[in-house]
Amino acid sequence: MRHVLSTPIDLPTPAASPASGRVRRSLLTLAVTAATVLTASLLPPTPQAAAAAGCISTADCLAKMTLAEKAGQMTQVANSYVSNKNDIATYGLGSVLSGGGGGPNGAGGTATQWADMVDDYQSYALKSRLGIPLIYGVDAVHGHNNVQGAVLFPHHIGMGATRDAALVQQVEDVTRQEVLGTGIHWTFAPCVCVPRDDRWGRTYEGYGEDPSVVGPLAQAAVAGFQGPSLGTNSVLATAKHFIADGGTTFGTGSSGYLIDQGDARISETELRAVHLPPYTSAVNGGAGSVMISYSSWNGVKDHGNAHLITDILKGELGFKGFVVSDWAGVKQLSDATYADQVAHAVNAGIDMIMVPDDYVGTINAIVNGVNSGKIPLARVNDAVTRILNAKFALDLFNHPYTDRTYTAQVGSAAHRAVARQAVRESLVLLKNNGALPLSKTGTYKIVVGGKSVDNLGYQLGGWSISWQGGSGATTTGTTFWQALQQATAGTGITVQNVGTRTKGPYTADVGIWVGGETPYAEGKGDSSTLAFGSDNSSQLSDICSRVTVCIAILYSGRPLVIKDQLPKVGAFVAGWLPGTEAQGITDVLFGSGFIGKLPVSWPNAVTDEPINSGDGKTPLFPLGYGLTPY
Ligand code: GLC
Repeated sequence: MRHVLSTPIDLPTPAASPASGRVRRSLLTLAVTAATVLTASLLPPTPQAAAAAGCISTADCLAKMTLAEKAGQMTQVANSYVSNKNDIATYGLGSVLSGGGGGPNGAGGTATQWADMVDDYQSYALKSRLGIPLIYGVDAVHGHNNVQGAVLFPHHIGMGATRDAALVQQVEDVTRQEVLGTGIHWTFAPCVCVPRDDRWGRTYEGYGEDPSVVGPLAQAAVAGFQGPSLGTNSVLATAKHFIADGGTTFGTGSSGYLIDQGDARISETELRAVHLPPYTSAVNGGAGSVMISYSSWNGVKDHGNAHLITDILKGELGFKGFVVSDWAGVKQLSDATYADQVAHAVNAGIDMIMVPDDYVGTINAIVNGVNSGKIPLARVNDAVTRILNAKFALDLFNHPYTDRTYTAQVGSAAHRAVARQAVRESLVLLKNNGALPLSKTGTYKIVVGGKSVDNLGYQLGGWSISWQGGSGATTTGTTFWQALQQATAGTGITVQNVGTRTKGPYTADVGIWVGGETPYAEGKGDSSTLAFGSDNSSQLSDICSRVTVCIAILYSGRPLVIKDQLPKVGAFVAGWLPGTEAQGITDVLFGSGFIGKLPVSWPNAVTDEPINSGDGKTPLFPLGYGLTPY
């Protein structure tokens, strides 16, 4: 147990010169020791000898920090770019993150391996002059999705279909526990985006198109991650991506994307009515951080927009946490040099820069920005105050390392049961001519097929073990085929899986097709067609032409064009991206009952997009639609 040191004395510290870091620290240690001896009689007894200068509160740290150390706290580096772990100590870096797939040895890794990695980085931070602990960040966006064996929940679009704030809070409370099991105290979640055009590759990261649905779920997610107040058992939540990332115009995408990171060409009235309410909810719920969006608003990059970040988020909403940039988001600003981009972003109100690579250049940009007068010192002090307040509130100074009691719970049966319930409540029944529910009694045969019927990677979608997700058994979980076998074991029901070999000679009473999208993340998922896919269409036709009762289950991150598929089937289920526990699907098929409601309007055709409730267009299925026949 590392106790916060009592303050020996305020030592004047020389301007940071990393090259002489080691020399400086030894002189300082000598000075501290001498001073301690001289003033020991004046000080209250300390729990232990002061091993380093240390600091015991935000104000105390701020008073002792050099400008370079303050800049270090504002700098976040991806683990893959930490060239020398001693730099964490030398520069007093504030944060390290794992991007999608940023495990101990690339994508994957067990909870124990992650905890060992995070604790190792932390040990270097504690060797810095003031011993300010790191806050480690990760995208735990549908469970602790980077970690092998962790429970993965339905992506947000499925959770939006549940309309169940209590369940969202429970889901994120489980995620909190699994994230703590890896020593991490900060997740870049919940995405509280309001997707307005389903062609956006990040549609599934949102709870839906209606801010009145998104807001309560956003607040619940924050509560699940952070608990009633921040403490050592909290995971700091991040409301993202501020703001109107889901409101961009198709065709304005940047970074080579169609719509992602594009331009939200909307009035301030619409911005405030549609995209701001979830942040009001998240901030009122105590969200500890906010991440800025890559996108622009009427041609101005959010990362440089002081009106949005400082006036609205920090001013009007009274946000007291800290604002973090997105991955290399500062570099997208149009300023001439990186130093100018950094000054622009910090002056706009960004407190921590997710660089994620050139940490020395970032620290120098902040230091030189202040010394040249481009960045007010008060702005830096405000940023560092916000960051340190979070670290003290999380009690990282006293508990910097993993609480391994959480590690053993990663992937537990109890956690999986919560995910199974989330799957049950996320499913939306779009059509049913009596095909459902299926009976567990009697003797009959079910044939299943389709590219996703036994493919866990497709069931998980993006942000799953790797950034873009993958195919096959990428982690521990139950596919639909495995769930069906479990559900029918011991009954009179015969089951057969034909996979994608749907043209073979087989007969059955009931056919179930499971297919849809293959995994994607961010702009790589932007679509100009929302096509169902010819492979999916032919496999569905094959199965349904060979059976009496035919059921379709769609795994997708958003609505696809299904109008021509509906006549083929007796029942059609929107399964979204359910995560690791497909037993939740068979539970419902065999009669536990559908309760999910559409979180987005379902288009007739891609030409309907963007299509949202109240826009005067007629969708194939409206926001809130969902049959509950049993
Ligand atoms: C990404 C995403 C953001 C994520 C961050 C760190 O590019 O936009 O949602 O939290 O990088 O992985």
